[in-house]
Parts: sequence; C-alpha cells; structure tokens
Amino acid sequence: MANLNNGYEKRDVDYSIIHSESKEVFKRFIESMNLRNGMKLLDIGGGYGSVFVNISDLYSDLNLQYDLLDSSEKQLQKAKSALGDFMKNKKTYSTINYILSDAMHINQLEDTYDIVVSKMFIHEIPEMSQADVIKQIFSIIKPGGCVLFWTADLQDYNRDFYDKTIRKKDELAGFDSLVANRHFLLNSHLETLLKEAGFTDIEKLFDFNYDLHTSLRLESEFHGNHDSLKTWHNHILDESKQLNPDAKKQMLVEVSDSNIHIRFKRAIFKAIKV
Ligand SMILES: C[S@@+](CC[C@H](N)C(=O)[O-])C[C@H]1O[C@@H](n2cnc3c(N)ncnc32)[C@H](O)[C@@H]1O
Repeated sequence: MANLNNGYEKRDVDYSIIHSESKEVFKRFIESMNLRNGMKLLDIGGGYGSVFVNISDLYSDLNLQYDLLDSSEKQLQKAKSALGDFMKNKKTYSTINYILSDAMHINQLEDTYDIVVSKMFIHEIPEMSQADVIKQIFSIIKPGGCVLFWTADLQDYNRDFYDKTIRKKDELAGFDSLVANRHFLLNSHLETLLKEAGFTDIEKLFDFNYDLHTSLRLESEFHGNHDSLKTWHNHILDESKQLNPDAKKQMLVEVSDSNIHIRFKRAIFKAIKV
C-alpha cells in the first residue's frame, strides 16, 4: 500500500487542531452509538485512532473490540504510537486490532460488526467506488447494527467551493493521491447510496461549524512555505467571486493578510441495518 504518491504516507496532521474538533462534538457522536460491553466496532480510515481515545475518555469501563482499519502504514504507525501512549496512563478493558487494508476490500474481513464508523473518510474513496464501499460496509454489519458517518456537510450552496478549496490545498501540498482519489459527496448523494445499499432509518443527527483557518495549514501541510499559502489564498479569493451573496454570507469568508477564515460545516449521519 505504501508508495511515494500516497498522500497519507506524507500527511502528518492533528485533526483536532486543523479541524478544531471539540470534545462536545465527540461526546454527541459517541453517545449516538449506544455502546454496550462486548460490542465490536470497526473504524474505517481510522487514522491515528481519535475515536477510540474519545470513547475511552467518555466510558473508561467499557469493554469493546475496536478494529482500526487504514490503508496507510504511516497512519497505522501513528495510531499504534498514540493509542499505546494513551493506554500507558489509562486502564482499558477493550481490545484493539490494527488492520492494514484498503477499504475497497472490507467485505473480505472475517468479522462482522455492531457499529462501523466512517469519520472524515468516505470522501477518500473515488466517486466510482463509493457505492461499492457503502455496500461492503452494509455486508459486514450485523443485523440490528449501524453505520455512523462524520462527514463534510455538503449541500448545493457550499459543495463546489469546498471541493475547490480543499483540492487546491492538496495539490499545493503535493498530496497527489488525495487530488486523484478524493470525491466530496453531497449529503443527498450519501443518503441515496445508503438507501441503495439496503440501510434504513437514514438520519442526519446533527451538524456543527467547521471553521477553516488557512493559516493553520502553513506548517502542518505546507511545511512553512508562504508561497503555497499565498497561492492558496489567491485561488480561494478567485473562487469566492463565483459565490452568490447568500452562500458567501453563510460561509463568512473573512480575509486578512495571513489568514482566510471560511465557515464550512460538518454533519453526523446514522443508518441502520435491520
Ligand atoms: C481525513 S483522514 C481521517 C482519519 C480519522 N478517521 C480521523 O477523522 O481522525 C482519512 C483516513 O483515511 C485513510 N484512507 C484513505 N483511503 C483509504 C482507503 N482506500 N482504505 C482505507 N483507508 C483509507 C487515510 O490513510 C487516512 O488515515
């Protein structure tokens, strides 16, 4: 899986910082899982394991099987190190398994799950394979189980601007595989794919602000390259001219010399396998 072109073998960011992820949102997200002892949870594209850390902070006595699947060796190494450090200071009754695999083959996993989590992941899958991956997710969930998505909250007013903003950042940062693979899907399209896969009770549970600050990416993604940040700013300013006044108002787009602040949103979706 590891190759030079894979952006996730290079990308080393803390999402709690660049995405301003709050404990309050994690709490609501985790409460919606209705976790119980003995459950098996698969975190697809789990990165460095932030979901497990936040579950343990909230329910320290819980006994889960937590399987973290990721296609990047670097991200799995980060997860092993972060969760290893975390568990040195905290007793856990849960079992953690690390699975190096492409999500496009998850139907080959031996286990089935009570809960599958897709946190900021489904957009990593190319458009032509998203329906198939969601069908595969359905196939590995136990009857009565569920899938939870933490995703970019994309609607007609913000999808193109979000896509162009993030794609340009990935291009300037040299994340070739992210530029090639990522497809940011509309909420309505996600709901359609879930329905087509056989899920029921498809529900957007809540949404919350995601305040993008370009300056937070200067060190973490551009390695201090001010020219890249400037090129990104010029691109965002050009693209923002295409926005209609209402969309621009909703997304704020506040510009200063060293930062552009855009108010995007995130959403939590839940769907059940009967
Ligand atoms: C934006 S990160 C999100 C990480 C984590 N879920 C979080 O929110 O903290 C996306 C993750 O998906 C992984 N990924 C990308 N494509 C994948 C694929 N085809 N199969 C499995 N994992 C993949 C990346 O390596 C990365 O860790």
